[in-house]
Amino acid sequence: MKVTIVGAGAVGASCAEYVAIKNFASEVVLLDIKEGYAEGKAMDLMQTATLNGFDTKITGSTNDYSKTANSDIAVITSGIPRKPGMTREELIGINAGIVKEVSSNLIKHSPNVTLIVVSNPMDTMTYLVHKTTGLPKNKIIGMGGALDSARFKYRLSEALECPPSDVDGMVIGGHSDTGMVPLTRLATRNSVPVSAFLSEERLNQVSEDTKVGGATLTKLLGTSAWYAPGAAVSGLVQAIACDQKKMFPCSAMLDGEYGLNDICIGVPAILGKDGLEKIVELKLDDAEIAKMKESAEGVKKTNGLLEI
Ligand SMILES: NC(=O)c1ccc[n+]([C@@H]2O[C@H](COP(=O)([O-])OP(=O)(O)OC[C@H]3O[C@@H](n4cnc5c(N)ncnc54)[C@H](O)[C@@H]3O)[C@@H](O)[C@H]2O)c1
Repeated sequence: MKVTIVGAGAVGASCAEYVAIKNFASEVVLLDIKEGYAEGKAMDLMQTATLNGFDTKITGSTNDYSKTANSDIAVITSGIPRKPGMTREELIGINAGIVKEVSSNLIKHSPNVTLIVVSNPMDTMTYLVHKTTGLPKNKIIGMGGALDSARFKYRLSEALECPPSDVDGMVIGGHSDTGMVPLTRLATRNSVPVSAFLSEERLNQVSEDTKVGGATLTKLLGTSAWYAPGAAVSGLVQAIACDQKKMFPCSAMLDGEYGLNDICIGVPAILGKDGLEKIVELKLDDAEIAKMKESAEGVKKTNGLLEI
């Protein structure tokens, strides 16, 4: 199992670390355009192997895609992150060119690869990869919902004053401050709907805090977060690498599901050896359908900025 991660910055390196620690991949290649950067991160991570007890071989490459040849899975984190006060959508000008070039280079050397797109604005970048690479649609997956759902569960556990492991919940819709749709109606604490413990007002607060989860961290850190994003991507990589058939909300190309067409947006999906193996259609209520529709309109507006 060979995994390539393009972009050895904050999220890429964090993802490499979690993949290595989980010890399911034989090889991880980190690639970055900055001279020596990926090699440095790879060497630093390899020096944690005996400390953290993993056997995954991590190597680095400065923009040499031959080193990524025959990757099973590749993660695209290359591009700029947002600064405080910026939206993800504002990154499109720079990141679209990078994501297009990187995905094409990856496929040249690994024609059977499954791509996981992380660079923002992620739903639009995933759509761009679908439109420009010709890879089958099960092999292009956008990561955003897995992170947003982890942030949702964190906020729910805070409100419930319980450990996060007691909580289950999911965020679908666009990966943006306004487009996320946290499914509070379906969230549970040990199978009990969270509405049994929290008022509607408190649940609305949880939703709003979840939606600006990334912006809150960007304000605190001065740049975009990396631990939870890296861990979330590593979960998707593991589900595919180990054929786990796990369900994550992922940005998937829709063809009528949820009443939407020709758009990549967060919906629950089953991940296994064939990548995105199945989209799960939930029975949403009218309010959730309306939020999903509004979210899709936002994503389509951003897609309209692409030059393809
Ligand atoms: N989808 C999500 O949930 C999610 C979460 C967090 C961050 N992000 C996004 O991920 C991206 C990376 O964030 P970060 O914090 O790691 O940024 P970062 O600046 O720390 O790392 C990005 C890296 O990409 C490299 N890079 C730029 N152009 C490249 C190219 N053409 N080829 C190879 N490498 C190139 C840079 O040299 C840099 O090392 C951003 O767009 C950010 O918004 C997405």
